[in-house]
Amino acid sequence: MFQTLNFPDAVPEFFRDAVHLRELTEDDIPSWFERASDPESALLAGDPIPESVEMGFQWLQRHRERFRQQAGIRWAIAPQGFTQSIGTIGLTITSKEERIAELGIVIGRAYWGKGIGTAAAHLVVDYAFNILGLAEIQAEVLQRNLASRRLLEKVGFHLLRTIPGDRQSDTNSEDVLLYALRSQNRTDT
Ligand SMILES: CC(C)(COP(=O)(O)OP(=O)(O)OC[C@H]1O[C@@H](n2cnc3c(N)ncnc32)[C@H](O)[C@@H]1OP(=O)(O)O)[C@@H](O)C(=O)NCCC(=O)NCCS
Repeated sequence: MFQTLNFPDAVPEFFRDAVHLRELTEDDIPSWFERASDPESALLAGDPIPESVEMGFQWLQRHRERFRQQAGIRWAIAPQGFTQSIGTIGLTITSKEERIAELGIVIGRAYWGKGIGTAAAHLVVDYAFNILGLAEIQAEVLQRNLASRRLLEKVGFHLLRTIPGDRQSDTNSEDVLLYALRSQNRTDT
């Protein structure tokens, strides 16, 4: 039984179902820029659209700093045989004391619907509960994001509650679904 998080010294590397998760590097910046500039994907992921590819260095720095502070881990997702990453997945620690983190994932549009996101999420969830020592993983998803909802359900998450959107707002009017998976409720896949 975990009492505290077993945060790693280096970003761990994993393989499953022809999907490779590894540390982010400068080489991941061009594919990050392409994904992050896709308006639909950025909206679904809740990320701002970057103005230039140079902002990728800040993006990388932010993730390295979060890791250094033991506040989060972000992996590059590369299908087998690819040196370039086609997406990223990560955990942001939201409560160290309660051992809770939030899952985030973005895959490049050309690779949607091939099972890559589900395989990557399985790897991260296995690691999070079996080695990192999380008690719970949460994920916030826009109501209309059917692919993300399905992915979470396939990995074992359940709907915790609906956070109503602000109907007066132009930008935040949509309901957000809060999903969760607890270590003790999980059946290994
Ligand atoms: C959400 C996302 C990560 C899913 O990754 P992916 O690799 O495409 O997911 P998978 O191929 O593993 O598919 C997951 C499931 O969703 C289903 N799915 C995909 N698109 C769907 C859609 N538009 N409607 C309903 N189900 C859909 C797939 O069929 C699959 O279910 P199945 O195996 O039962 O058929 C990817 O679509 C993405 O990056 N979207 C933009 C950013 C984003 O939304 N991030 C998540 C924010 S919470």
